[in-house]
Amino acid sequence: MNILEVTDLGKAFNLHILRDKKIDALKDINFSMKEGEIIGLTGKSGSGKSSLMKCIYRTYLASYGEIIYTSLEGKIDLVKADDHKIIELRKTEITYCSQFLSVIPRVPAVDVVCENLFRIEKNKEEARAKSREMLEQLGLPQELWDAYPSTFSGGEQQRINVARSIIASPRFLLIDEPTASLDARTKDVVIDLILRLKKNGTSVLCISHDEYTLNKLVDRRLELTFGQIGPLEMQPAN
Ligand SMILES: Nc1ncnc2c1ncn2[C@@H]1O[C@H](COP(=O)(O)OP(=O)(O)OP(=O)(O)O)[C@@H](O)[C@H]1O
Ligand SMILES: [Mg+2]
Repeated sequence: MNILEVTDLGKAFNLHILRDKKIDALKDINFSMKEGEIIGLTGKSGSGKSSLMKCIYRTYLASYGEIIYTSLEGKIDLVKADDHKIIELRKTEITYCSQFLSVIPRVPAVDVVCENLFRIEKNKEEARAKSREMLEQLGLPQELWDAYPSTFSGGEQQRINVARSIIASPRFLLIDEPTASLDARTKDVVIDLILRLKKNGTSVLCISHDEYTLNKLVDRRLELTFGQIGPLEMQPAN
């Protein structure tokens, strides 16, 4: 079964400060993804990887095309679905992990990680125990567990970000550069945690530049070049 079918998808940005110059960030994107598959999304900086992920999560509204997601309740076009449906899917099925943590002020690390788990695990102490276990696996020093992540280093924030996106075992995970600023040992832990999700049926779209991560993690790769899938021979005119 396909969890995702993307058909003729495009996204253009109009830059008003540049006299409405149009940037075609994504053009005629077509691909599908099987349930339980891990796809690695690759391509040079500026090729459109994050834009594609944001169109799927609906942070960006695609300019044209379809993104058919097979939810537990049936197929749904993530381009056309109303905002309530999108919010519901984000709560129950689809999780997005951005490259950087947008920190919630004055919430301790343990609870930042637990946020999605609190929705399904009503016993807050059980949820916190699971969160501490994950922070331990990820090698986050214990003295930071109850501290606020706003002052954490880049790699520490990244671990919080990854932990909070996987702790509730989402059905579909969109994850942007999960291992970019991690040391080799922690990279392996993150790769293992994502592979464990896959074993339980999670489908994963993962942006990565890191060959080591891609080789260990993904079933296949999709390469974006100037907003299109597949390596192009030449840079398009204009
Ligand atoms: N909100 C936006 N407004 C205007 N232009 C945007 C916006 N988001 C992305 N773009 C443009 O779309 C193109 C693709 O950007 P995107 O962030 O998707 O690239 P990327 O492949 O994720 O790059 P990187 O590897 O550096 O993260 C770039 O030219 C970028 O400037
Ligand atoms: Mg990006």
